[in-house]
Amino acid sequence: MTIGTGTVIEHSVHAPGERMKAIVYGRYGSPDVLELTEIPKPAPRDHEVLIKVHATTVTSGDWRGRTLNVPRGFGLISRLVFGISRPRQPILGSELCGEIAAVGKTVSKFKVGDKVFAFSGMRMGCYVEYKCMPEDGAVALKPANLSDEEAAAISFGGTTALAFFRRAKIQIGDKVLINGASGAVGTAAVQLARHFGAEVTGVCSTGNLELVKSIGADKVIDYTKTDFTQNGETYDIIVDTAGTAPFSRSRGSLNEGGRLLPVLGTLSDMLQMPWVAMTSNKRVVAGPVSGGAADLRFLAGLAESGQFRPVVDRRYPFEQIADAHRYVDTGRKRGNVVITFENRHQH
Ligand SMILES: NC(=O)c1ccc[n+]([C@@H]2O[C@H](COP(=O)([O-])OP(=O)(O)OC[C@H]3O[C@@H](n4cnc5c(N)ncnc54)[C@H](OP(=O)(O)O)[C@@H]3O)[C@@H](O)[C@H]2O)c1
Repeated sequence: MTIGTGTVIEHSVHAPGERMKAIVYGRYGSPDVLELTEIPKPAPRDHEVLIKVHATTVTSGDWRGRTLNVPRGFGLISRLVFGISRPRQPILGSELCGEIAAVGKTVSKFKVGDKVFAFSGMRMGCYVEYKCMPEDGAVALKPANLSDEEAAAISFGGTTALAFFRRAKIQIGDKVLINGASGAVGTAAVQLARHFGAEVTGVCSTGNLELVKSIGADKVIDYTKTDFTQNGETYDIIVDTAGTAPFSRSRGSLNEGGRLLPVLGTLSDMLQMPWVAMTSNKRVVAGPVSGGAADLRFLAGLAESGQFRPVVDRRYPFEQIADAHRYVDTGRKRGNVVITFENRHQH
């Protein structure tokens, strides 16, 4: 289908004659580029499930994909990924929660009516009423104790924090500092670090100290009052989701063998990894990460046992997604911003 500037919506297969709502964008820019429209409803191929979406989210990844505002050094790479002059994938949204509405002929892992959550990652495409995913893709059964809104917000922050901690080989008893502990990745990182048996310090602004404590941080630091790099404390792992703790600034706060995880990392953070490894016994572990079905099942298990609960900040109806993007643009969201469809189950 062609929209406005000639944007092509790619679906696997269409349900003949049936249409669905979608939020599309045909150019990079402010939230005003997001348009509510109708596109053909997809139909599952043999190995796919069709998910009726109950909730999705607006993540920092959607904000980057919409604006092409990316960390220093990644401008050209991001245009190659997202599209040189206009978005190649006109539908944003990387995670969702919903219900299986139909299954392809060979699908055996899911059945119609199963409640699931899913992560499309960089492939995006979740700002829709119905979404097809391969049954072997990043789809998992929804934890029964989470609301649809919470389950929609498991994947982006959860898989990112999990992947970085695995790369850093987090261990029981590690002292972990999370700079930017109140965002989507930060709130997941606090809870996962606790799960892995770490002693957790969260760094955030004054208004978020209670939130970060409430999700399990042993200590909190208000960055508007205290500079953690100057308070004499040292850590085995520093997670930086805010981009304000590069190695040059945080190296003195790392123990011998300590690892800096610049989740918000620039190209130079990546390029210095081998140099830091050669010249010190500390490490920088940077770069893009992704998550698959096994990671979603792991996170769902933690949610079911009460060790991980996505933090939901504001909720917006699907039709008001541009307002949700405006809020995310402030850079001040607390955990996750969720988009819901009216008249669909919320629990
Ligand atoms: N490498 C990867 O594969 C990967 C994957 C996912 C995300 N990311 C990147 O990671 C970053 C974080 O993502 P997110 O989704 O967690 O973002 P987010 O939800 O928007 O979180 C932003 C948080 O940053 C905090 N913050 C702002 N300035 C700060 C400062 N000076 N010091 C400490 N905290 C500060 C804010 O808290 P306060 O209001 O308390 O200041 C806010 O809660 C994004 O830039 C995203 O692009 C990278």
